[in-house]
Amino acid sequence: MATLRLGDEAPNFTAQTTEGEINFHEWLGNSWGVLFSHPADYTPVCTTELGTVSKYTEEFNKRNTKVMALSVDGLASHKDWIKDINETQATTVNFPIIADEDRKVSGLYDMIHPNADSKHTVRSVFVIGDDKKIKLTITYPASTGRNFDELLRVIDSLQLTQYHSVATPANWNNGDDCVIAPSISSEDAKTKFPKGFKELKPYLRMTPQPNLN
Ligand code: BEZ
Repeated sequence: MATLRLGDEAPNFTAQTTEGEINFHEWLGNSWGVLFSHPADYTPVCTTELGTVSKYTEEFNKRNTKVMALSVDGLASHKDWIKDINETQATTVNFPIIADEDRKVSGLYDMIHPNADSKHTVRSVFVIGDDKKIKLTITYPASTGRNFDELLRVIDSLQLTQYHSVATPANWNNGDDCVIAPSISSEDAKTKFPKGFKELKPYLRMTPQPNLN
């Protein structure tokens, strides 16, 4: 299948998961979503990743974002491995993990990169907006565990920039100043950004984050 690109609709699917059969679009409802793959059950990096994600539940909830994991192992393996994740990471895994033994979903989302590993998924991440469109993709190799703080940071930026005429500069974190979108004239910016803005160059204008008091 063609590579999924930003702005494409996230392909729908029905899959067996650790929380029963799920239709992806129905499960997303009006939420944002994160769909992420990991190479295999009973592997060390994946164990820390899934434990970390379950500890971030409150952070994902605050962002109206549901999370679903995937690997090509079976349901019985997932369910047994979750016990190890809970024990070693001191948590309770509380999101569905797809058992993609037939590689249906990993095929749809191009999560197997044969020149890296012919059988297992790489560490793919898809952030899906409340309009079911793909907002972000990141791919990591098996040997590099993901930074889930970065994922939360990116979701903050995606949600902010969807609703306000700003973009977020390098190393931005929630609360930092933003840049005014180039499509907004400085005249219009005066009314759109009542907190004011600093014009460093006509194309580089900084304003306090608009959705904060
Ligand atoms: C891991 O999750 O630890 C892992 C999986 C596949 C290759 C290397 C590391």
